[in-house]
Amino acid sequence: MSMDAMIRANKLLICVGSGGVGKTTVAASIGLRAARLGKKSLVLTIDPARRLANSLGLSRFGNEETQIELEDAPGELWAMMLDAKSTFDALIRKVSPDSETAEKILANRVYRHVADSFGGSQEYMATERLYDVMVSGQYDLVVLDTPPVKNALDFLESPGRMSRFLDRRIMQWFLSPYDDGRVFGRFLRGTSALVFRLLGYIFGREFLDELAEFLYLFRDLYDGFRERHESVIRMFSDGLTQFVVVMAPTGPSSAVAHYFIDALDARKMPRSGVVVNQLHQSTGELLDPDELLGRLAKELSKDLAPHTDSQLLARLGAAHRRLLGLAKVENRFVDRIRECQGPNEHLWTVPRFEGEVHDICALDRVGKQLA
Ligand SMILES: Nc1ncnc2c1ncn2[C@@H]1O[C@H](COP(=O)(O)OP(=O)(O)OP(=O)(O)O)[C@@H](O)[C@H]1O
Ligand SMILES: [Mg+2]
Repeated sequence: MSMDAMIRANKLLICVGSGGVGKTTVAASIGLRAARLGKKSLVLTIDPARRLANSLGLSRFGNEETQIELEDAPGELWAMMLDAKSTFDALIRKVSPDSETAEKILANRVYRHVADSFGGSQEYMATERLYDVMVSGQYDLVVLDTPPVKNALDFLESPGRMSRFLDRRIMQWFLSPYDDGRVFGRFLRGTSALVFRLLGYIFGREFLDELAEFLYLFRDLYDGFRERHESVIRMFSDGLTQFVVVMAPTGPSSAVAHYFIDALDARKMPRSGVVVNQLHQSTGELLDPDELLGRLAKELSKDLAPHTDSQLLARLGAAHRRLLGLAKVENRFVDRIRECQGPNEHLWTVPRFEGEVHDICALDRVGKQLA
């Protein structure tokens, strides 16, 4: 399936791959391509390179969806940079039964701590924000950028982490001394009594009360979290979602791409193909610069020191042989990844451009390569 067909056939595309290979670049290029095809697209990005963020106008807007000005595009391109902390707070407001409970949780010291540590886990927040924008139905296509691979599996499983954390049995165990009017210390029995007394010694009663309040308030949110988790997982396999594996033609990043292919297969997650980005291009033939440029070089270097032309041509020849060697090695990575692709999967190659890809014009160039 071509990129354009893939854009038309899906609601959600998720770019995965190792660090620095160009996931954010590819995600933004796909979003832009979709807008060029008349779609309303949203690129949900994590930590884009500063210059790209600036030229998309993202740094000013934080967690807000921002429309990016495009000339002559029949569709619309929107982008949003994830801000984990405020996403978590917004999530609490959403799943709380009323605003009073939400404010209590947000002010709770234990929550602040949990929010800090969960807030650091961007992939979890990504799925949360993703859930919101998908459910809103505002976009024809959402393209999700993901953090580098060490968190990759967390990303697929992270909604479960919160649910596990909030597992009723664990909560129940913690909360039992607080039930019936929260009479801490009076009716404590068994192991939990011991543990609570010990925690009381260590952290002080005030903290423990706050912990209990946190768990008590959170207990009712459990079902909300679980529901969201289940919907996110359903969304990943709804037939309108596909994963795009992004890699650079290097050993480490192609190893990560292979790992991703296996991990997605194991989870039966649909994969549309692999983008090999930053490929060095060469005509593939051993060119003889002397033959191509010899006469011209001789003419131009007439007034220069003797042998300047031959030294220059020798260097050009060496540079070309190096590029050719590099292109050959890189193509081996491309061949290997192609071997393990399914029959319906696509393989896109994007050349390494001069300079960085940090504006709409450069994103368009990447998009054209993918089309
Ligand atoms: N085809 C290309 N040609 C030249 N430069 C590129 C190309 N693709 C990406 N880049 C540049 O490489 C750098 C890394 O790209 P990008 O930020 O998209 O990678 P990433 O996979 O999202 O990184 P991270 O894992 O850190 O999020 C950027 O400076 C980008 O401009
Ligand atoms: Mg990135």
